[in-house]
Amino acid sequence: MSAGDLAAAARLLAAATRPVVFTGAGMSAESGVPTFRDAQVGLWQRFDPAQLATPAAFHADPALVWGWYEGRRHGVRRAAPNPGHRAVAAIQARLPDTVVVTQNVDDLHERGGAVAPVRLHGSLFAPRCSGCARPAPLPDAAGEPAGPLDPPACAHCAAPVRPGVVWFGEALPEAALAAAVEAASRCDLLLTVGTSALVHPAAEIPLVAARLGAPVVQVNPVPTPLDAVCAVNLRGPAGEVLPALVRAAWPDASAG
Ligand code: OAD
Repeated sequence: MSAGDLAAAARLLAAATRPVVFTGAGMSAESGVPTFRDAQVGLWQRFDPAQLATPAAFHADPALVWGWYEGRRHGVRRAAPNPGHRAVAAIQARLPDTVVVTQNVDDLHERGGAVAPVRLHGSLFAPRCSGCARPAPLPDAAGEPAGPLDPPACAHCAAPVRPGVVWFGEALPEAALAAAVEAASRCDLLLTVGTSALVHPAAEIPLVAARLGAPVVQVNPVPTPLDAVCAVNLRGPAGEVLPALVRAAWPDASAG
């Protein structure tokens, strides 16, 4: 990340009144939460996440899929928000009209102080019944599953409880997608952080802002398909770049 790029991005943030902060798995990487396209570890090495994150996978082997998500949930519970999460909260504290839109299913934005993130892909902490769709209680904090784990049965209809996340082939929650498009349509800056911008329709959100003339600033160590629409590309990890950006935009502000 060059000083010139940081200064240019800081000018855009300092001038903004209603930014959107759009985040992906890279936002949580420095908290130790693997990104979606990181190599799987341990027992899950032999599985491609895309094979596990589908309705068909859950139907075929509920214990395998539930065990994988419970393992991810336990990993998130052990993780802590990183300075990037706190910098996002600092932006919201400074600019109350900021909307955080996340593809992530962890709870690190909230634990890092962000308010009411729009969740395009659901949450690891909101299981629901696979039959009647009623919300289901989180299982007691037993130890991290070492492998497949039978999902609990719905207390109402006895169908297996499923993770409250969006799977490949499933529609995004309508209200969340509408809120994200609305925010991107009216923002005066879109800050996209830690996403490969490969999965649609979520990846459309920065493009909605760009098409309507809002500047897009990207934070990612490597290029993504969004590079071409960005006013500034800040090459680096969110946990370092975002606090530096907040400090450069508002020297008097706490960067979180
Ligand atoms: P990916 O794993 O596809 O991409 C993570 C991005 O974060 C990559 O572009 C990395 O270069 C970048 N990255 C890694 N470490 C970083 C760091 N410390 N700071 C900033 N960026 C970093 O994850 P997503 O783009 O979030 O959908 O994936 C989008 C969706 O694909 C996920 O929400 C998931 C998956 O299908 C569902 O689960 C429905």
